[in-house]
Amino acid sequence: MRVDIISIFPEYFAPLDVSLLGKARQRGLLDIRVHQLREWTHDVHRTVDDTPYGGGPGMVMKPEPWGEAIDAVVVGAEIPPRLVVPTPSGRPFTQQVAIEYAKEPWLLFAPARYEGIDSRVMAEYGSRLRVDEVGIGDYVLAGGEAAVLVIVEAVARLLPGVLGNAESVADDSFAPGSMAGLLEGPVFTKPPVWRGHEVPPILLSGNHGAIARWRRDEALRRTAANRPELAARLDREALDKRDREVLQDASFRFRPEDMAN
Ligand code: ADE
Repeated sequence: MRVDIISIFPEYFAPLDVSLLGKARQRGLLDIRVHQLREWTHDVHRTVDDTPYGGGPGMVMKPEPWGEAIDAVVVGAEIPPRLVVPTPSGRPFTQQVAIEYAKEPWLLFAPARYEGIDSRVMAEYGSRLRVDEVGIGDYVLAGGEAAVLVIVEAVARLLPGVLGNAESVADDSFAPGSMAGLLEGPVFTKPPVWRGHEVPPILLSGNHGAIARWRRDEALRRTAANRPELAARLDREALDKRDREVLQDASFRFRPEDMAN
C-alpha cells in the first residue's frame, strides 16, 4: 500500500519508522511518503493560513497550497488515491473503515492545523477522487497529525504480511466473526500466581470448549459494563441462553427502544 501524507509537521511522523510499521516499510509492504505542505507556498513566510471569512477565532488553512500539493502528489496517476481528511466533524473512524481502507492501494492524508482547511479544497477534490472527512473520536486534537498516525497504524496492521500469525487480527475487538460486536476479554500469561493474584483456573484446564465459553462470558461482561451501547446493538438472534444469563447478571437490560433494531 502507498500512503502519502501532506503536513506542515513532517517530523510528526517519525513514529511510522518504529516497530510493526517500520518493519512493514523495510519489507516493502508499506510505502509511506511524507511531504511538507509549505513546499507549495510562494511567499517568503511560506504562509499556509489566513483569517476565517465571516469572522471567528483561529485561522483557516488556505486552499492554494493544498491544491498545489495534492495536484503534485496525484499527478499522472491512473487510479487516484483516496483522500482522507481527519477532522473531529468527520464520520467516525471505526474498525469497519480501517478494513475498508486496507483494501485500497493508495491513501493520501491531508491533516489540518488551526480551525481546518478551506472547505473548497474538499469540494474541488470531491469531484476528482473519493474524499473522506473522518474523526477518530469525540475530542479535539491540536491538529490532524495524531489522527493520521492512528489511522495509518490501524490500517497497516490489517495488510497481508504485516502481522505474524501469532498476532492474528481475527479475534480483535470489533473484528467480524462469532465474537462480532463484543469487546475482547482479559488476557493472562505466566506466572500462574503474581502478587497473590491467580490466573483464572479454567484457562489452565486444557478444556478448550470451557475456555471459549469463559472468554465469551468475559467479553459479554466487559461489553455490558464498558460499552452498553454496543451491547444494545448485539444481534439477539446470535445470543444463546447462556449469553442472555451473563448479560442479565451484568445488570444489562435490552431497552424497549433497542428492541426495534
Ligand atoms: N483533528 C482534531 N481533532 C480530531 C479528531 N478527533 N479526529 C480527527 N481529526 C482531528
